Formats: sequence, C-alpha cells, structure tokens
Amino acid sequence: PVKVSKICCIGAGYVGGPTCAVIALKCPHIKVTIVDLNQARVDAWNSPDFALPIYEPGLEDVVRQARGRNLFFSTNVDDAIEEADLIFVSVNTPTKKSGVGAGFAADLNYVELATRRIAAVATSSKIVVEKSTVPCRTAESMRTILEANSKPNCRFDILSNPEFLAEGTAITDLFGPDRVLIGSLQTPEGLDACQSLKDIYGNWVPEERILTVGLWSSELSKLAANAMLAQRISSVNALSAICEATGANIDEVAHAIGYDSRIGPKFLKASVGFGGSCFQKDILNLVYLSESLHLPEVAAYWRQVVDMNEYQKRRFSKRVVDTLFNTITGKRIAVLGFAFKADTGDTRESAAITLIKDFQSEKALVNVYDPQVEHEQIWADLQEASPLVPLDSIKKQVTLCKSALEACKNAEAVVIATEWKEFKEIDWEAVYAGMNKPAFVFDGRLLVDAEKLTKIGFKVTTIGRPSSVA
Ligand code: NAD
Ligand code: UDX
Repeated sequence: PVKVSKICCIGAGYVGGPTCAVIALKCPHIKVTIVDLNQARVDAWNSPDFALPIYEPGLEDVVRQARGRNLFFSTNVDDAIEEADLIFVSVNTPTKKSGVGAGFAADLNYVELATRRIAAVATSSKIVVEKSTVPCRTAESMRTILEANSKPNCRFDILSNPEFLAEGTAITDLFGPDRVLIGSLQTPEGLDACQSLKDIYGNWVPEERILTVGLWSSELSKLAANAMLAQRISSVNALSAICEATGANIDEVAHAIGYDSRIGPKFLKASVGFGGSCFQKDILNLVYLSESLHLPEVAAYWRQVVDMNEYQKRRFSKRVVDTLFNTITGKRIAVLGFAFKADTGDTRESAAITLIKDFQSEKALVNVYDPQVEHEQIWADLQEASPLVPLDSIKKQVTLCKSALEACKNAEAVVIATEWKEFKEIDWEAVYAGMNKPAFVFDGRLLVDAEKLTKIGFKVTTIGRPSSVA
C-alpha cells in the first residue's frame, strides 16, 4: 500500500475543515492542504485571530496547533491536487432544486466538478476518497469520469469514507469516533488503497473501530445511519403528540423505553423537529433511491419520517397560536435560538426558520436571539423562506436582539427553539418582570424546569406534556 505523505481535501466546510484539521493534528508527518473555491471561507480559516468560518467547540484549539505546521488552507485547488497522494472530496451535496429528482435527489454537480478537476490536473496516481454523503454507486461514476480523462500512468483508486460527526460535537466525535467506515472495491488494488487510508486513521483510532466493507455498503450505510437516527426522533415526536393528548409525559416515556438495552437511551429527546443539513436531505435521497429502484413501499416508509417532522413543526406553531387565545396578530413573540441545535452556528433546515415563518404569516411581531448565529445569516434564511416578501417587510415584523433578556422584553410569549444551555440559566424572574401578562413560555426542547417557571408565574407549554400541566 502507498504510504500517504500528502493529503488534499477539496471542500473547507463543516466536514472537510474539522475532519482534515484533526487528521493534521494527529498525523504530524502528513502534510494536509484543505482547498476551497470560496475565497472568503479560506481567508477565515487563515485569519490571524482565528475567526474561523464555523463555530465548533474545540476546533480553534486544533487549528491553532496544526495550522502552518502541517495544515494549510488555500484556494489553489490545482497545486494541492497535484502534490497529494490521497484526496478527500468533501464538497456539498444538497438536495436538487430543479430537474429530474427535484426536491429529493442529491445534487452531484459539485462532486462531479471536483472529480473532473482531479482528472484534469493529476499527473500521478491518486487515492480518491468520497467524504461527501452520496447516493449508492456514486463511486462508480467517479471512477468512470477519472478513467476517461486521466493521463497515461495515472491510476485512481476510489474509496468511500463517509463522515459520521455531528455538529456541535465534531471535535470529540473525530477524536474518538464510534467507528470509521472505509469502503473499497475488493480487488488487490482496492484493498491496498483501503489499507493506506486505514493507516492514517490508525494514528489515533483503535483498529477494532475501523470497519472495512465493500464500496456500495459503505455508501448506503451513511444514508442508512442518518435515516435510522432521524427515524428515532420522528418516532419519539409522534409519541409526544399522544402524550399531549393523554396526559402522559414524553420525557418519562423516553426514559422508560430507553432503559431497554435494545433501544438505548440516546437520541430520544422529543423536540420541535429535527433540523440540520443532513437528516432531511439524506432521507429524501434514500426515498429517491428507493423509487428509482422500483421500491415504492420502501420509499413511502422513509418519507414518513420527514412528513412526521414537518407535522411536528406545524403542530408546535399551531399550539402557540391556540394557547395565545387563537390569535397572535400584533403580539410580540420572542424566539430563543435560531441554530438547528445547540453549540453550532449552523442554521441549515433549522426548525426556528419554519416557526418564525408561521408566526410571520399569523402577523405576529417576532424578536429573535441566538448566541452564535450571525444576523446576516438570519436575514438570509428568513428571506429564502419567504422569497416573495421584500426584506424590508420582513424587517418590519422581525427584530434581531443581542440578548435573551432583550428579546423577551414586552413580549407575550417566549418560544425556545434551540437547546442552548444559556437559556436554561437565564434569569427567568427578570424575563417575567419584563413581559406582558399573562406571560407564556413554549418549550420546544424540553429544556427548562416547567414547575419552576410556573411558580414564577409563567404559563408554560412543554412539548410532549399536556397543556394543563402548566
Ligand atoms: P459545506 O457546504 O459546509 O462545505 C462544502 C464546501 O465545498 C463549500 O465551502 C464549497 O465552496 C466547497 N466546494 C464545492 N465545490 C467545490 C469544488 N469543485 N472545489 C473546491 N471546493 C468546492 O458542506 P458540509 O456541511 O461540509 O458537507 C459536505 C458533505 O459532507 C456533504 O455531502 C454532506 O452531506 C456531508 N456531511 C455533512 C455533515 C455535517 O454535519 N454537516 C456530516 C456528515 C456528512
Ligand atoms: C447528524 C448525525 O447525527 C451525524 O452522525 C451525521 O454525520 C450528520 O447528521 P447533525 O445533524 O450535525 O448530525 O446533528 P444531530 O445531533 O444528529 O441533530 C440533528 C437534529 O436532530 C438537530 O436539530 C437536533 O436538535 C435534533 N435532535 C437530536 C432531536 O430533536 N432529538 C434528539 O434526541 C437528537
């Protein structure tokens, strides 16, 4: 097997950045260059004061240790490809917005462009690793493109190495992964390439946690893992609706079923709906794959996971309106949290976007506060959610605030959309004092102590608990 001494990573995003920064940290003998076409993003990775383009606990420390030593960020894609022995393709694969499979299939344009660039530039053999989440058998298309465009004496071995990190815990996930999955062709060359990548992870990941499988199993395992995780959330959210109607408490139910070692306690938190760039996209991708394979029942099964999530978001905003005496017109609502989960500044598919849009259409006034998300990002997301409404009109209805306390001032209701720890710890007495009465709290994240808030005077509505509890 080739002993890798230079790695190139194409795509300096949420996955490429942290993943390859950790490889650089753990493998000081390997030069790692992360490239991107987006100059602003690369500049941020290189910024002297470490104002990195993504917020991720522990990331800055990793970059501080490795940057300039054996970790480099650049827009010079060609040079990095040329010198590398191994290339990660870690570009975005969003859901297609138009054309065949629109709304379901993955847009593989960025993967294809990156692959074509590798073929055009490479003058020596390379191991090419799919890091992006892609539909089953994408590696085959990559190989066809590479072989059709390669120079003589260049061979390309393709590996699949999907990434399982979750945002907000990316660095701890990368330091101690449950498993690293590597898929390869089961040919001597494929197995050699697999060994080369295995040797890289072997610098810090115990051998028994590095799983090697066939290419197609590896590609499908990524979609399958995300589908099963999202399915747990939709299942618990479906049960939360039953709890609200019956008087059962979803936290108690989740706790009880999680004690079954076959089910396990993790990832059973009822919420206002899952968000993030992966779950919905990857399930829709699986739905599309199932349909193209003429498996409509399988497609319908997985589709229901996304439908249930949409239902959960709508159900929550309806509950807010119902509780506020069936109208929120002209009422001020404070939305705490805009990121799709705590400890990230990422807002992709965040439930907060849907909630705020619903409140806007009910003609409410909305105050928004998030400790990490840039205001520009919030405006961009709200504009994208309501493309026909001019931004000026959105800004008349929505106000961005600098603190939770400021957001709650003179509001009728507080909606907790993201489980930021600071929302648990804010001075709820002070919040109460500043609000109009009756003062309502809607906890979409099972975050706050409902009994404590009720004692202060709040009318509390919690997901998965009947309204009468408040
Ligand atoms: P991202 O949008 O944050 O980053 C992708 C980057 O690739 C962008 O900066 C873009 O400019 C760059 N890029 C696109 N085409 C390029 C090209 N031809 N040359 C150079 N740079 C190019 O996306 P992400 O969140 O990092 O996701 C990347 C992939 O990893 C996706 O397939 C995603 O499904 C998968 N994934 C994401 C997560 C996650 O938590 N975000 C977790 C696991 C897997
Ligand atoms: C997910 C997968 O966990 C990760 O393995 C994969 O690589 C990428 O997709 P991510 O989307 O970053 O990671 O975060 P995750 O922690 O999975 O949360 C996704 C969404 O589900 C968030 O909105 C979160 O708030 C929500 N969630 C999670 C719940 O509502 N309840 C839970 O119990 C867990």
